[in-house]
Amino acid sequence: MVTMETLVSLCKRRGFIYPGSDIYGGLANSWDYGPLGAQLKQNIKAAWWKAVVESRQDMVGLDGAILMNPRVWEASGHVATFNDPLVEDAVSHKRFRADHLIEAWIAKKDPESTLVVDAMSTEEMAAFIAEKGIKSPDGNALTAPKQFNLMFETSTGVTEKGKNSVYLRPETAQAIFVNFKNVLTTSRKRLPFGIAQIGKAFRNEITPGNFIFRTLEFEQMEIEYFVEAEEWEQHFEAWNKWMEEWAAVIGLKTDHLHRLEVVGDALAHYSKRTVDFEFDFPFGKKELWGLAYRTDFDLTNHAKASGEKLEYTDPADNSRKVVPHVIEPSLGVDRTLLALLVSAYEEEEVAEGDTRVVMRFTPQMAPVQVAILPLMKKGGLPEKAEEVLASLAGIARCDFDVTGSIGKRYRRQDEIGTPLCVTIDYDSLEDNAVTVRHRDSMEQERVAIADIASYVVKKLV
Ligand code: GAP
Repeated sequence: MVTMETLVSLCKRRGFIYPGSDIYGGLANSWDYGPLGAQLKQNIKAAWWKAVVESRQDMVGLDGAILMNPRVWEASGHVATFNDPLVEDAVSHKRFRADHLIEAWIAKKDPESTLVVDAMSTEEMAAFIAEKGIKSPDGNALTAPKQFNLMFETSTGVTEKGKNSVYLRPETAQAIFVNFKNVLTTSRKRLPFGIAQIGKAFRNEITPGNFIFRTLEFEQMEIEYFVEAEEWEQHFEAWNKWMEEWAAVIGLKTDHLHRLEVVGDALAHYSKRTVDFEFDFPFGKKELWGLAYRTDFDLTNHAKASGEKLEYTDPADNSRKVVPHVIEPSLGVDRTLLALLVSAYEEEEVAEGDTRVVMRFTPQMAPVQVAILPLMKKGGLPEKAEEVLASLAGIARCDFDVTGSIGKRYRRQDEIGTPLCVTIDYDSLEDNAVTVRHRDSMEQERVAIADIASYVVKKLV
């Protein structure tokens, strides 16, 4: 499997992902998506939105605000319980996740252990750390674990006096619950139906890291799917299946995907059942996505706190009012992108002692779909290539590249995952045809310029 070092370096070199605030020496654990990364991210979100909103009659979209009334987070339980266990190095005062230190200790000293660290209470963690003498990574004693709230607080209002505390949302989901009544009234959907949303979420993670895997600011693609209480299991299973299928559609290696039934204290405060989709990242098997059965927890709590009735009236029997139960498939955009990079990366020996790096993105995910490569910078070739480029406008995402030898240009396109390279040579001026080179097979074929648009459309499906 590709190492993180190789991936991070490729991402910076080719313009997928840069360290955040780079010219100021960066900001720890912040990352900026470059031209190719921004496009890849866009492709992931567009594919998800198309699959879950545009292609279904039982789903609608929403784009809620990041800042919400603070009472939302009290009612949702996040103020009281959205915590991680924190320990501090008694000397350096660096902070660590107690559960992560325990997991690392087990992996090193007792790999056969069946202890589920996620299910441990704060007291159990304290006892374990004391009993095993677990130290900080710097070798110093640790303070007892305490719960640390992950929500970022900021304030609204221009004067100190009028200052109001608000939170940056730690999940996009709450905007969906808070708008349940508005959406139901305006969309006239019937159960079962879902509301989908893509947006930024923020968490003051104690130990962010592993590139874009765990950051303070990230994007989520979330669905709250509203169902009759007694039907929750069938819908849970349907989404469970859908998530695996969609992983394959976008090009994730499905043999890297594993389901984990979340148990005990590891279950979020709102969940009766959660299945984590874990993925084999270069740094280990870690959570990629989550699927939760949130019951009627959120709608009931918001109804109580706001005084609004958040119910559904059975159209077949107007006297029957129900508070729908909720199935929530929650996908992190950034983790999906990281898993896609891991899945796509391949080093291939093309001749003895000659290897190429190739990103095997699906044609839909590839940031660049067609590279237009005039063989030379002169002799009328760039002008002919411009004609080809114009014929693909609106059909494919194209890159026009005239620099370097053709071999080098092919390698560059392989490394960013471009499925097709179209080369314009001197013969093109005579026969009005181009050479199309395929990324995966490296096979080449001659195609008439008049046919190139329909050819590309067929190859990119
Ligand atoms: N609304 C449910 C919810 O937020 P979660 O398991 O806490 O559930 C859902 O988060 C997904 O969001 C995760 O499976 C992961 O893909 C992504 N995610 C969570 N925290 C993240 C972080 N700090 N950095 C990047 N992605 C994160």
